Amino acid sequence: MAAFPARRGQMHLGAFFHPTGNHVASWLHPGAQADAGLNIDHYIEITRTAERGKFDMIFLADAVATRDGNLVALKRWPQYMAYFEPTTLLAALAVATSHIGLVCTATTSYNEPYNIARRFASLDMISRGRIGWNVVTSANLTEAFNFGREAHYEHGERYDRALEFTEAVQGLWDSWDDDAFLIDRASATYFDPEKLHFLHHKGEHFSVRGPLNVPRSPQGQPVLFQAGSSEAGKEAAARFAEGVFTAQYTLQGGQAFYSDLKGRMAKYGRRPDKLHILPGLNAIAGRTEKAAREKHAELQALIHPDVGLELLSNTLAGFDLRPYDLDGPLPPEAFALTTNGSTTALRNVLGWARDENLTIRQLYQRFAGARGQRTLVGSAEQIADEMERWFVNHASDGFLIQPSHLPEGLDDFVDLVVPILQERGLLRRDYTGTTLRDHLGLEPPPSRYAKRPAAAE
Ligand SMILES: Cc1cc2nc3c(=O)[nH]c(=O)nc-3n(C[C@H](O)[C@H](O)[C@H](O)COP(=O)(O)O)c2cc1C
Repeated sequence: MAAFPARRGQMHLGAFFHPTGNHVASWLHPGAQADAGLNIDHYIEITRTAERGKFDMIFLADAVATRDGNLVALKRWPQYMAYFEPTTLLAALAVATSHIGLVCTATTSYNEPYNIARRFASLDMISRGRIGWNVVTSANLTEAFNFGREAHYEHGERYDRALEFTEAVQGLWDSWDDDAFLIDRASATYFDPEKLHFLHHKGEHFSVRGPLNVPRSPQGQPVLFQAGSSEAGKEAAARFAEGVFTAQYTLQGGQAFYSDLKGRMAKYGRRPDKLHILPGLNAIAGRTEKAAREKHAELQALIHPDVGLELLSNTLAGFDLRPYDLDGPLPPEAFALTTNGSTTALRNVLGWARDENLTIRQLYQRFAGARGQRTLVGSAEQIADEMERWFVNHASDGFLIQPSHLPEGLDDFVDLVVPILQERGLLRRDYTGTTLRDHLGLEPPPSRYAKRPAAAE
């Protein structure tokens, strides 16, 4: 292994559980649980596997709508069509595990702060301090249709709402001082009213009186995560996030994002080590590089052309590729396309088609397989080397591991890669604390009322 400049400490690991796995065709693979989205035994098994691998946490994404689009393609892809609501699921996983952190998404666009504050505080009590909330503004535009709107909020407004929403939630989480509940039968006193605080939040988007009907949580407050990488997303993260999920592809890109985001924190009075940046890693590990490549090829071969073409044509601004030969080149008109969607993805796809002469099938296989996430296929040693390279060179504080198919892809990672990371001192051999904040080395945030006398309310 190459000699790296030393960086002290251990990396933080999250396991991102798309029900059947990150690969678009994972549910068709024999090593995946086909009905995973609605199989509680499956979720318990994979969460316990991640706990055995001493991960800091698992992470569940969410949307408050199904996927929308061409049903001919959608019928071949279960993701976001039928699965457990994640906060409900985390409650079950909390009682089936003892140490691992449990993180899920809830959107600030289609919720109210009181509901979210209550749900996550409650989960933090049930899990004894292991909960995190991934604050998103909703990537799925059709969620609007389920909440009385005809269009999604515009990007800037979404983030304005997210900032105010999060502030209100944090305020509600401080409704009670840590020692507010006396539960004293002798004096017939359940709580001390001096230690109860009304929020009285009145902002542009939300009005919340409080107090919350759940005490301060065992880790002070649940841990806040954020996963948007736009300017507004980075600014929001610098302000309140304690963990960030991001898609980064190159060491240089990862380093630039890392120093940019950490550099924004000072103006909010925050130290850079109060936020952990975890780029996604779709790691396909084998005992040998050849075994890993074979596994990856198996998955790639399972991508149904309907699904591949749908994903590719979404990226190509809706350009219909069905009339064309899958094993032929992209038609010349495609190279003139522009998009209102992701310009980065469009540029990447057209670049591959032009520079490497990829056929339509090869293009969708490359793009659709990992759905735009960074894929690393190799021996366990090679994957550990690459993770170490990013970590010691300040491109990340750890990784969000996105197993290609579940449970098998996670088993491979935990059995093959984790021991190498532990051997190198880069990953804990056992948990030294019990809360998610303990694992992440983050102090419980003091209550906003801690040093002040209780307000007259
Ligand atoms: C690892 C990861 C997980 C995400 N999970 C969700 C999710 O569960 N729900 C969602 O609506 N968006 C999710 N997103 C999308 C972002 O939160 C964000 O909405 C999107 O990137 C657009 O924001 P931006 O313009 O600031 O980048 C996720 C993004 C990443 C990288």
